[in-house]
Amino acid sequence: MDFKRTIAGLIAPENVGVDEVYAALAPTPDITKGDVCLPCFKFSKALRKSPQAIAEELKNRLDESGCDLIEKSAVEGGYLNIFYNRSKAAEELFAEVKRNGGAVVAKEQSGKTVCIDYSSINIAKPFHIGHLLTTVIGGSLYRIYKYLGYNAVGINHLGDWGTQFGKMISAYLRWGDDADIEKRGVRALLDLYVRFHAEAETDKALEAEGRAWFKKIEDGDPQALEIFGKFKDITLKEVKRVYERLGVEFDSYAGESFYNDKMQPVIDDLRNKGLLTESEGATVVDLEKYGMPPCLILKSDGATLYATRDLAAAVYRKNHYDFYKNLYVVAYQQNLHFRQIFKVLELMGYDWAKDCVHVAFGMVSLEGQGALSTRKGNVVFLDDVLDAAVQKAEEVIDGKNPDLENKKQIAAEVGVGAVVFGALSSGRIKDLSFSLDKALSFEGETAPYLQYTHARCRSVAERAGEVKGKFDPSVLRDDDAFTLVRLIGEFDKTVETAAEKYEPSVISRYLLDVAAAYNRFYLNCRIIGQAPDVSYTRLALTSLVAEVLEKGLNLLLIKAPDKM
Ligand code: ARG
Repeated sequence: MDFKRTIAGLIAPENVGVDEVYAALAPTPDITKGDVCLPCFKFSKALRKSPQAIAEELKNRLDESGCDLIEKSAVEGGYLNIFYNRSKAAEELFAEVKRNGGAVVAKEQSGKTVCIDYSSINIAKPFHIGHLLTTVIGGSLYRIYKYLGYNAVGINHLGDWGTQFGKMISAYLRWGDDADIEKRGVRALLDLYVRFHAEAETDKALEAEGRAWFKKIEDGDPQALEIFGKFKDITLKEVKRVYERLGVEFDSYAGESFYNDKMQPVIDDLRNKGLLTESEGATVVDLEKYGMPPCLILKSDGATLYATRDLAAAVYRKNHYDFYKNLYVVAYQQNLHFRQIFKVLELMGYDWAKDCVHVAFGMVSLEGQGALSTRKGNVVFLDDVLDAAVQKAEEVIDGKNPDLENKKQIAAEVGVGAVVFGALSSGRIKDLSFSLDKALSFEGETAPYLQYTHARCRSVAERAGEVKGKFDPSVLRDDDAFTLVRLIGEFDKTVETAAEKYEPSVISRYLLDVAAAYNRFYLNCRIIGQAPDVSYTRLALTSLVAEVLEKGLNLLLIKAPDKM
């Protein structure tokens, strides 16, 4: 249901076009001033007329169309304000929901594939708060694209290559304690690594030993690979536990080492295309013309680099998945890296370089959680943040609703949801200062507030039981109800915009609007115990709102319990 489309089709002038009018039509913030508004100055140039004259003209077209979806329209300066016929609009919305089998159903497969590289953790390194944004933005985009009918491919481009893994093996063989590693996992591996560097200060043989082990990994030595495999298993076991808590999934864990045998053809290709030059012994692609430092392809000893692997990975993804878009959800610190990679791909003659996008985001810091960071050194483990949030959620629930069934599970859904929403509620590029207390508040722009509103809808329905009435769209004509009708009609468009901008927060903002509108409706309009048609219709609206909140939260990786 997209009334804006209908309107655009009715009024679009020849040399402007439906799409442009559609894009310009904006919901009016004040529902008493109309439902959608068209700022006509946008077409002045194309039509060589004043905005006011255009607005008058389009109003006439609309009047003449006799479209029963429109109640009236009014020209205000250079703006055309359009009022829907509320009964008609409500009727259409519900008819469409019925046809669809629900207000929010995933779109048909488009056949297009979107690769999303996110989380992309490093082996034997802690999974910390710094990974929160990439993990949940990527995880959410994954669900958003699936909802929109794309074939989404979630890729965890593991950091599993580099000389440090040789050092890790040498440290492990010298001081490793399997029982400790079993117990403390990545933390124990990290300690080994720290110890290696401390001892290497005095023991000069260590560096060489580490290098030798790395060489063995490169040469495929079974012992080296076995130990390295163990590091990988331990790390993945830990992160997968967190992924499960967050509801994040991947289709591929092909990390940096996966491209070991896939770089040579790319290097040859670069050379054949005359793109490689020598610089201080290293082999690079000169990007000076494009205002960038050179992209490093091979070190002077012939070793490949992060960029070499990313080039091979992009080519592989194109060949293997034939993506329509190839997204990298990686911190803005790697801006230059991706600009270089995309430029090199372009210079190689790949027109799909334009389909590669760096979905950058800001930094996260945690307010007042000193305790969390000191317990395990100076990194804040994501798992610990989630634990703390769940514990706080449990305390809140104990205070508000101590007899709640399934308290543990709901506390987990609320606590984890609060953290995720905290990460997805503001524009991704902003640095984020995160406060657990604020995230868990039931008032304000939080997940618990949205979850609570959803649970409120479900409980109204439950309390009402079966109401013998019929759907009467005129019941939804008052401002509070109609605001909701309008919003529900914007769900799909909202998800599309979130995908276009790679910005799950578009959905977050929308859900906050829906929840606020529902709570106003709930306060002002009685639902239960009215004339049967009134109760019935308001309940129908309530369940649509619940469905929209649940689906929307789900696209943000957040659960919506029926009770809390
Ligand atoms: N492991 C990298 C890091 O921690 C992120 C990898 C991002 N993905 C990529 N294809 N480069 O910085």
